[in-house]
Amino acid sequence: MCGILGYIGDQRKTVDVLMKGLSRLEYRGYDSSGIAVIEDGKSRVFKSKGKLSKLKTKINKHSPKGTLGIGHTRWATHGDASQKNAHPHISGGTSVVHNGIVENYLDLKNELKKKGYKFYSDTDTEVIAHLIEDLSEDGLDFEDAARAAFKKIEGSFAIAVISDKEPDKVIATRRFSPLIVAKGDNENYLASDVPAILPFCKDVIYLEDGDVAILEKDSIRITDIDGNKVKRKVQSINWDPISAEKCGYRHYMMKEIFEQPRAILDTMRGRFSEETGEVFFEDVDPSLFKNVKRIVALACGTSYHASLIGKYMIEKFAKISVEVDIASEFRYRKPIIDKNTLAIAVSQSGETADTSEALLEAKERGAKTLSITNVMMSKIARDSDGVIYTHAGPEIGVASTKAFTTQLVAFYFLAIYLGRLKKQITKKESIQMIKDALSIPQLIEITLKLDNQIKDLAKEFFTYRNFLYLGRGINHPIAFEGALKLKEISYIHAEGYAAGEMKHGPIALIDENMPIVLIAPGDGIAYKKILGNLQEVRARKGKVIFLTSDPHAPEIQGNVDKIIEVPDCPYMVSPIISIVPLQLLAYHIATCKGTDVDQPRNLAKVVTVE
Ligand code: G6P
Repeated sequence: MCGILGYIGDQRKTVDVLMKGLSRLEYRGYDSSGIAVIEDGKSRVFKSKGKLSKLKTKINKHSPKGTLGIGHTRWATHGDASQKNAHPHISGGTSVVHNGIVENYLDLKNELKKKGYKFYSDTDTEVIAHLIEDLSEDGLDFEDAARAAFKKIEGSFAIAVISDKEPDKVIATRRFSPLIVAKGDNENYLASDVPAILPFCKDVIYLEDGDVAILEKDSIRITDIDGNKVKRKVQSINWDPISAEKCGYRHYMMKEIFEQPRAILDTMRGRFSEETGEVFFEDVDPSLFKNVKRIVALACGTSYHASLIGKYMIEKFAKISVEVDIASEFRYRKPIIDKNTLAIAVSQSGETADTSEALLEAKERGAKTLSITNVMMSKIARDSDGVIYTHAGPEIGVASTKAFTTQLVAFYFLAIYLGRLKKQITKKESIQMIKDALSIPQLIEITLKLDNQIKDLAKEFFTYRNFLYLGRGINHPIAFEGALKLKEISYIHAEGYAAGEMKHGPIALIDENMPIVLIAPGDGIAYKKILGNLQEVRARKGKVIFLTSDPHAPEIQGNVDKIIEVPDCPYMVSPIISIVPLQLLAYHIATCKGTDVDQPRNLAKVVTVE
């Protein structure tokens, strides 16, 4: 949560870089925002409660000039979402932006108060500014004062700081929170995440825990906390800057829903042979799977739902038992893990604190580790023995869409890989499975044509206050995910259930005011059983939206209120298709209600607190 940014250079207007970069970090938090720019040797600070647009209005009136600055977009942790708690925080000539938590801030605050420092906010961040100021008063230069302050603070953080006393450098550090620095020509950048710097440059360095970066106009130096030089690799980012723009769509979420066919192709690209039926993962060594007897998948939110479907895929193709754990629960229940367990951490951002901690817990207990993530060099990726990148491109909408379907594709390929490795599927079978996977982008293209029809459907249903989503078999987690999408962005209460569980409780809720989305693609056993649930719902006058690939089946004629027709497809890839109309349904219901689709209230895309 929270996004930080820094710029130094004379190639562009600092304030423009900060505002553009922050707009691309807003997905990390949008409770307040702020910037500090050093103009004529003096910091000018602008802050505003609420969305970045509010800050923009303030800045437009008195746009600061200057060749270096820092910026911040906040998701409140210490202190409410208010102007006084917005970053940057200042002390004397020192301005600080921070993502993370200073765990020992109370001790530090008390010490600093005794020395006469006044605190103006309720944040933990303000201690960092006073600490640096205090150490410079003791005679240390900016660089040494910053390093000495970073040494004193405990917790997880990414910090950027500038000082009026030395207005020719931006200093930054990280511990457990992400931070990159990026090299331009006579200009340098730092940011919490790659999309912020994509419009400006492509050469980035992923800082490691404990690194301190000193950015000057024409150089980037990296040291450890004691000032010793360290070397870090410069990596070229191949994301298209356009991939983090809305490209004519009203919302990022819609753009990302429509990007799914392309994103899925990128997940599959270079990872299979249609001739031999083999699957390859560039960052996974086959020895990782030696002696693996069981798998534990660890994840939160949408990634948790993807893992529930991954379980079906791996158990079916590779015959390895898979447990799926909510990451925040895993650590606190003494899980049974040994060296024959493979822990798979699944996370779009690769940063979610609960997932990251659960992964480390599994590692500590002797498990081998693998991650499925979208963000290169993210914490979870770096902490794992192997990594499968989903290559979905930047996902900005808070409600996850393409990250979910690409995670499903990654699981599907992992299941084929393990199936072949453990000799549970034949070459012929894996060739067919790959063929099935290759049909997914086209099937999604067909499904996306439902957009207008679903828009009309949303107009009829957006006034309902509760929804129930029911699915069976491999599509039962799609009921969870469909319901999650709806509640996240439309604030309508929605529950997802395994359809067979309906009679054990939720059936009591059903009446004419309860729309029920029945997810029933294909014609297998899951479909037949769902027809039974349909009758039960009908008998209680529930309103039925029926997702099916056989809209003419006699059993549903006259028994459903609305039909969503999805293309017929192989059962094991069907969830990747069925979720698409449910993403669209949530989107259109939210736009009918007029809620903020890309930045729903109280949520953040990246949750780095437990
Ligand atoms: C937040 C987001 C969800 C996401 C979850 C897990 O709650 O709002 O959309 O599914 O975090 O995120 P991850 O990055 O670990 O997949």
